[in-house]
Amino acid sequence: MSARVAVLLSGRGSNFLNLHAAMERGEVPGTIALVISNVAEAPGLARARQLGLPALALPYGESPTREAHDSRMRAAIAAAGAEWVCLAGYMRLLTPGFVAACGQRVLNIHPSLLPSFPGLHAQRQALAAGVRVSGCTVHFVDAGLDSGPIVAQRAVPVLDSDDEDSLAARILEAEHAAYPAALARLLAGGWWIAGRRVHFPGPGA
Ligand code: GRF
Repeated sequence: MSARVAVLLSGRGSNFLNLHAAMERGEVPGTIALVISNVAEAPGLARARQLGLPALALPYGESPTREAHDSRMRAAIAAAGAEWVCLAGYMRLLTPGFVAACGQRVLNIHPSLLPSFPGLHAQRQALAAGVRVSGCTVHFVDAGLDSGPIVAQRAVPVLDSDDEDSLAARILEAEHAAYPAALARLLAGGWWIAGRRVHFPGPGA
């Protein structure tokens, strides 16, 4: 069964492109049903159009409230027949109404090992804290900030020579491995959530 996935993004869209490529290679049993951006000029949205994928700009300013904006997004996602929503550099919090309506079908990728360093500039936060290991986290989205149940994490070293850019580049490589793998694992089904923990079927479950 192939899942229909909507992607929300605000920027360059490398995670979106990477998910799409993994789907094209058959590594994730899904298709990108729609790409939505709150930033009309986001490079990720332009790439979606170039690839011939349905792409929609929904600038915040066009809606009177956050709730109204997210209702428009929900309507577009439903019209595209998407069952899953993947945030890929989407720089806004989703409203509780949106999250509740989508159930456990919204994922995000964050460039730190959550719960450390949620929010903006996660790599800068990691360097400032002096951690020797950082990484990325794929997690379910709830109404909080980078706070939903964790699906997958990948660790990378933090080197003495790192600045924000070099650390971000190393983490991004891990993101590009982690996100498609996590989505494929979820699409295979059989998982459940108990408290804050996501459990998968099979050995060690
Ligand atoms: C990634 O680092 C992701 O973890 C964070 O925003 C960045 C988006 O990068 N949420 P891209 O637009 O997918 O290239």
